[in-house]
Amino acid sequence: MTAATSVGTHPPADLSMNETPYPPLPSVAQVVRDGAATLHRYPDRTASALVAALAARLDVRPEAILVGPGSAGLCQHLVQSFGPRPEVVHAALSFEGYPLIIGNVGARAVPVPMTGYGHDLPAMADAVTERTRCVLLCNPNNPTGAVLRSDEVAAFLDRIPADVPVIVDEAYREFVTDPRSPDGMDLYRAYDNVCVLRTFSKAYGLAALRIGYAVLPPRLVRAAALTGAVFFPNALAQAAAVASLTPAATGELAGRCERLAVSRAGLTDTLRGLGLTVAPSEANFVWLPLGERAVPFADRARAAGILVAAFPGAGVRITVGSDEATERLAAFVREALAAGL
Ligand SMILES: Cc1ncc(COP(=O)(O)O)c(C=O)c1O
Repeated sequence: MTAATSVGTHPPADLSMNETPYPPLPSVAQVVRDGAATLHRYPDRTASALVAALAARLDVRPEAILVGPGSAGLCQHLVQSFGPRPEVVHAALSFEGYPLIIGNVGARAVPVPMTGYGHDLPAMADAVTERTRCVLLCNPNNPTGAVLRSDEVAAFLDRIPADVPVIVDEAYREFVTDPRSPDGMDLYRAYDNVCVLRTFSKAYGLAALRIGYAVLPPRLVRAAALTGAVFFPNALAQAAAVASLTPAATGELAGRCERLAVSRAGLTDTLRGLGLTVAPSEANFVWLPLGERAVPFADRARAAGILVAAFPGAGVRITVGSDEATERLAAFVREALAAGL
């Protein structure tokens, strides 16, 4: 199949947003449909059912949990509430939202270059000063897919002053299969400056509803809750998230994450087999360190009906999609390489 025919016969394959390739769970979609009958009612501003379900799942007190409209919104909320110190330390290259989030709350980003595909944790600890408001760790890292190891994170946290919060962004946690990578909740229990940020957007497949949560140490809960006085998620999102935490849905979603890890390995092998360098990934996307070829690759892919995320001068991030999307991508890559890209 040529690139031109793939555009002509298919809608674009969007592999640029790290969305799940699976449709909503029927049980969850039904809850959202049922919610249409009560759209005239305000949501529960304390998200009590969802907070209770999360508290039971995570074995923490409900007061430790803050629910908000997506983990990006919550991240901004936390960074704002942790003021007034001016600087926020994060890895570069990491989630493209961080510089925006930090700027939005009037803080200053301190990007710390990576070593290879991962965070340079010793350098990030060196970058923490009396001006540091908080640190952002992204595990697995977007866009490279790399995970942090438990021992290196412990060594890092041991160096961070207790009054500097460390936000562990686990947007892709459910896709991790490497046992050496820490569960943020274990870090939360071991260090009283660790906050965990998670989302229902990715593995849970609720990106359109905008809902995520943060788990906060007791001394940070009050400031964060006060900053969020008018900040609560919509009723359908709350109901869908609660439905996603039932035992039946949990089992189905875990099965999907296992299937996705298999697809991730398949996509990685396929691209490597075609001669491309693919970073090891523990998330639902893969990273191609294409350097200056990143933008031409993405432009050409778009012309072939495949959307990927280009990071100019660095690389391309490709979401693990359906088997059909992977086949289309492989056909495109074959053609592009043959044409000398
Ligand atoms: C690392 C990371 N954190 C947070 C988010 C935000 O996700 P959401 O606001 O949909 O929960 C994303 C989305 O791509 C992400 O990659």
